[in-house]
Formats: sequence, C-alpha cells, structure tokens
Amino acid sequence: MKLIRIFIFLFAFPVFAQEGGMWIPSLLEGMNEDEMQSLGMKMSAEDIYSVNQSSLKDAVPHFNGGCTSEVISPKGLLLTNHHCGYSQIQSHSTVENDYLKDGFWAKNLEAELPNPGMTVTFIKEITDVTEQVLKGTENASSEEERQQIIEKNKQSVIDSSPKEAWQTNRISTFYEGNQFMLFRVETFKDIRLVGAPPSSIGKFGSDTDNWMWPRHTGDFSLFRIYADKNNKPAEYSKDNVPYKPKHFLPVSLDGVEQNDFTLVFGFPGTTDEYLPAVAVEQIVNTINPARIGLREVALKEQDVFMRKDQQIKIQYASKYARIANYYKKWIGESQGLKKTDAVGIKKAQEKAFMNTVKAKGLSKEYGSLLSDLDKAYAEYEDYNLAYNLFSEAFIRNVELLRNGFQLYQLEQVLQARGEQSFNDRKANLLEDFKASYKDYNAQVDEKVFEKVIAFYAENMPEQFMANNLKSQNKLTLTNNIYNNSALTSYASIEKLLEGNANDAVKALNEDPGYSFVKEQAQKFYESVLPTYRNKSLEIDALQKKYMKGILELSPEDARIFPNANGTLRVTYGQVKGYQPRDAVEYQPVSYLDGVIEKYVPGDYEFDVPQKLIDLYNQKDYGQYAENGKMPVNFIGTNHTTGGNSGSPVIDANGNLIGLNFDRVWEGTMSDIYYDPSISRNIMVDARYILFIIDKYAGATHLIDEMKLVHPKQKGKNKRKDKKKK
Ligand code: ARG
Ligand code: ASP
Repeated sequence: MKLIRIFIFLFAFPVFAQEGGMWIPSLLEGMNEDEMQSLGMKMSAEDIYSVNQSSLKDAVPHFNGGCTSEVISPKGLLLTNHHCGYSQIQSHSTVENDYLKDGFWAKNLEAELPNPGMTVTFIKEITDVTEQVLKGTENASSEEERQQIIEKNKQSVIDSSPKEAWQTNRISTFYEGNQFMLFRVETFKDIRLVGAPPSSIGKFGSDTDNWMWPRHTGDFSLFRIYADKNNKPAEYSKDNVPYKPKHFLPVSLDGVEQNDFTLVFGFPGTTDEYLPAVAVEQIVNTINPARIGLREVALKEQDVFMRKDQQIKIQYASKYARIANYYKKWIGESQGLKKTDAVGIKKAQEKAFMNTVKAKGLSKEYGSLLSDLDKAYAEYEDYNLAYNLFSEAFIRNVELLRNGFQLYQLEQVLQARGEQSFNDRKANLLEDFKASYKDYNAQVDEKVFEKVIAFYAENMPEQFMANNLKSQNKLTLTNNIYNNSALTSYASIEKLLEGNANDAVKALNEDPGYSFVKEQAQKFYESVLPTYRNKSLEIDALQKKYMKGILELSPEDARIFPNANGTLRVTYGQVKGYQPRDAVEYQPVSYLDGVIEKYVPGDYEFDVPQKLIDLYNQKDYGQYAENGKMPVNFIGTNHTTGGNSGSPVIDANGNLIGLNFDRVWEGTMSDIYYDPSISRNIMVDARYILFIIDKYAGATHLIDEMKLVHPKQKGKNKRKDKKKK
C-alpha cells in the first residue's frame, strides 16, 4: 500500500496542491470521511448526508436564497445570523417599536411575526446527472450547439426525475461545467420571526470590527418554520403549525478548545479557486484597486454627513454597511493575495501542469491552454475594468445614477416590448423609488456623485467614456444636475413620469440627470458590453478546459473540490488561532470581558446594553459559562465564503457548537487562494447565543424547546472505553 502511494507521488506531478475545500455532502465517503475522522470526527459520512434515514442535512436549509440556517428544536425553531435576518427585523420595526435597536422576543407562538415572500429550502436528495446532461455533446459542432444540447438535456432530466408534488428538481453546474448535480428540494414559505437581540449585541462592533478578529459579536436571530397540518410546505396561513423536522441539531453546552474538530454545513455562494495566475494578477493590480478606490470616495463623503446628522445616520446606516462590507473585504483580499504570493504559487502550479501535460503526451489537448488563458485575460482586462467601474458608479454607489440607470432600462423596455410592458415596469419602479427615496438625502448624494464621477472619469479608459467627461468641470456638472434634475426626489420623479409612455420618455430625455446617465450608459452598451460578454464566454470555455485538465491530471487523492456555487457543502477543520503579523499571536476564543473592553457608551458601533453590563458585573452566566467566563466568538480553519453566514458549526458528534458569520481579514483571499495558516472563519459560540436568549432576554420557553447536551462528558467516557480495549 505504502509503496504504491510513494510511486504515485513521484510520478504524478502535484498539479494542484490545494488546501481547504467545500465538499459535496453526497460524496464524502472515502478521502473526506477518513480525513474528518482523523481530525476527531466520531460520525460517518452517512450521518451527515443520507437519503433514506434522517441526517444532519435535514436540519440545514438555505435561508431566503442567500444565507444558511439550521433547525434547533422539534418545533421548527430556526437559527441564523442577525445580519441575515436584518431586513426582516427592520421591516417589523417602527419608531415606537424599533426591534433593530431594542431587539425582539416573541412571548409565544401567536406573537411570532410572519414575513411574506420569505423562504427556506431543504435539500432532500443530490444525484450526479453528468452523463445524462452531457449526452450527445461530443458531436456538437460549436460551443453554442453544445450549450443548446446541455440545456435540453437538463430540462428532460428535471422533468423525468421523480419528486413529490410539493418538491422541486433543479440542476447545478460544478467544476466549471464538467459535472452536473440534480437537487430535489423542498421550500417552506411561512417563516416567522421569533427573536433577535438588539443591534448592540447582534451587530456589536459594526463596520470597525467587520472582517476582523478578535471579535465580540452576538450575530444571531431566530425564526420558525410553519407547515400545513400535514407538515408540508404551505403559503402563510394562521392555521399553519410549527414544522416537525426530520432532524434538528442538539445544542452543546461543552464549548470548544484549540484543535477541536469542527464541521460547517451550509450554502457557500461563489469562489474562484482555479483561476490562472494572470487572472489573479488582474484582480490584484486592476480590478480591486478600481472598486476599492471608487467605494472609498463614496464612503468618505457619506461618513462626513452621518457623523454630524442623526437622521442621515439612520437613513444611510444600511446602505453604508453594504458598501463598506465588500470594500473592506477586497482590501484584505488583495493584501492576503500579495502576502501569500498567490500569483507565484499559481505560476508554479501552472508549470507543473504543463510538465504533466507534456509527460503524458497531452499537448494536443492542453498544450496551448495556459497561453490561451494569458491572451484571453489580457484582452479582457480593459473591458473587465470598464465593466466594474460602470457598475460601481452607475449601479452601486450613487443613488441618482442608479435610479437614472433603472429609468434608462425602462426606456429600453418601451422600445423592445411596447407600452403595456413599459407601464407595468414603470409602476413597479415607482413603488421601489417610493421606498428608497424615503432614505434619500440629495445633499449627501450630490457630494458622492461629484467625487465618484471624478474617480470614474480619471480611471475609465477614454474610449469607453461618452464625450469629454474627463475635461468637464465636475463641480459644474454636479451642480447643474442636482439643481435641475427631477431625479433628486420621489415627488418630482413621479411627476416627470406622468402621462402616457411617450410623454414620460420625452420628459425623461429633457431631464439633465437622466440625459447624463443615458449618454454614459449608451456608450457602455455600445463600446464595453458586447466585447465584455464575448470575452467572458471565451474565458469560461477556457476555464472549463483548465478545470477538466486539473481533474484529469491530478493524483487520485488530490484535494480538487468544486468552486462554491450556492449549493449545500460541507467544510471542516479545527478550532485554531493564528499569527496575523510578526510577533502577534491570536487566541481562538473571545470572551465577554472583551465586549466590556470595547464598550464606548452611546457609540453607534460599540455601545453595550445596560442589562448585559449588569449580567457581566454579577457574572450571572447560568449554565453557559466556561471557568467563570462567558465565551463569545471563536475561529477555526473551516473554508467558508459569503452564503455560509448562518451556517451551523457542528462538533465531532453532530451537535451545534457555534454559528458561522464571518472570516478574518488577513485570510479573506480564501475565495481565490486558501491559506491554512491565516484563513479562518469566525463563529458565535453556541453558549453565548443560549446565554443571550436565556439570561439577557428571559426567553426561557425557547431554551426549553431545544435539546441541550454535554457531549464531551460522554466523549471522555468513550475514549476511556477505547483505551481499555
Ligand atoms: N463580513 C460579513 C459578511 O460578509 C458580515 C457582514 C455583516 N456585518 C456588517 N457589519 N456589515 O457578510
Ligand atoms: N459574512 C459572510 C456571509 O454573510 C460570510 C463570509 O463571507 O465569510 O455569508
């Protein structure tokens, strides 16, 4: 056995020495199962994913399409992050009952709050359907025809695969188009808000602490799944009853220590682990600097106003947080990519790949692949930059530009689909505007506009900008638009769009704000988008081939996991500190003492509720303390990304020990290159959640419906038994 292994290692080049990994739960048997057990896991692959018996997967639904959640009681109680339930919590809040500020705790089932439109989705079964989906594609004469065959095959697999009436079949693409999986899923639609701590706990540290360790955030909220009387998904009805899950997670009171096994189960959104060096260079040198720079000027202007005006602070808090989140992430990502020399490592991998290609006589298929990628990415660069600059400026950071761009699309609807579609779209748009303009401040937006447009003009390649934006005086341009455009208030937009479609479009085109957007947007559609799209398709096809090569040429036991694609994955690792900088060592667990250390009375990020201070002073931690201290957050080596928020952190025996919500700054490049020495995910300790629910909120009825366990005590006995043998 050993000899064979050595033989493989000598003769198969380490094409891709990949660390980390987000694994498909139905394919854990073998390498993953062995590795997990060697890290301390006491479960089998079948305990994690099984179609026939209940397993962990039956407790882990996708939360409203973006986050993850887990069932933690036999009555469908659902745990996720505070930042995942944020908009639901906000939507139930008023000035008198501000649940974001003060928290919310339903006293009983009747008091739980419905959230129309919200869903959670369970995965019932995962099946590899690659063969059926790719059938007949060998003979396709073009990439286009190939895609058509694939689409047709997918539809017929979906239509012919068994499912219950209340379930759905869908297919997702893995390994950049080299593998296809069928998911049979069940979606619940009556999801009610049960509890949320105040933001001073659930969002403690806010933007300053975001993406950072040491962290002290109680980032959790509670919901409940309701079903019809047969326990099946149903639209909201007051007659619905709490869902009885196939499985729910017991909650461990034993906590964690360095090197404990952890498993994170959830729905990671997107990663790009198999980019060639040239693509990573492009992100670090061109794309990230552009989007970071643009967001920086926008955030800076907003911040000035938010600091001196309470109303503006409230109006812009959530918008600011959204922009700041990825702004900060990209900075960390670029630094991490540089520090780990991800480009150098990728180049070495590419060299090994080419050596293997030559050694195996596969030059015909893969010989030019990497130079093709180099060429394609080089041609793509300006278009990629332009695409990012345009979307940051005209869609994400300046409200008047975003609204103008939506109106531009409205005008396109009239041309493409006629008056009826125009009117429908207009009605929807006005409704959106009505909501968004409530939180609009034209003075703030004007400043943001001026600075963002200056950045845009400075950085956009000239051939992609409508006439002389560069030479225009930005202050004059801005003043003219904000003094004369109807896009600065809801009332004036509503008035502008009055009358029939032609009148509305005519009025739009006379508006200086709208004409500015239209001019730039038209230029973008003409000069950027077509080539951007073509190049993207070309790159996708090359990446698919590269992925195929990596899969074919890597040794049998190489860790080649598929990029995140919003489907259910298992990632695992250990509780571990790390060294962020020379001479600095981070511990893996933070405590309530740290919350008190960071406390700034009245501050919007670091205020602490009096009740929590009292509990701290009295050390009133109930059964949740660890040696007299209250644990708050911990970190581990689990490979996670956006979408893993709200994911359960599970111990060696299948109990809940934590709730995933973030990553550490130095390791955020893990979406592109995972480095086990500094990539860490951040989790809320389950005991802090229980403590807040029980001692802080007094919602003991929720604790009563959970199953609290002491697995380590049992575990110790087990180990002793083993030793005796
Ligand atoms: N960085 C985390 C994630 O990407 C948490 C974001 C929410 N928290 C915040 N302060 N904005 O989603
Ligand atoms: N905070 C992220 C989320 O909301 C998780 C991450 O990016 O690590 O999904």
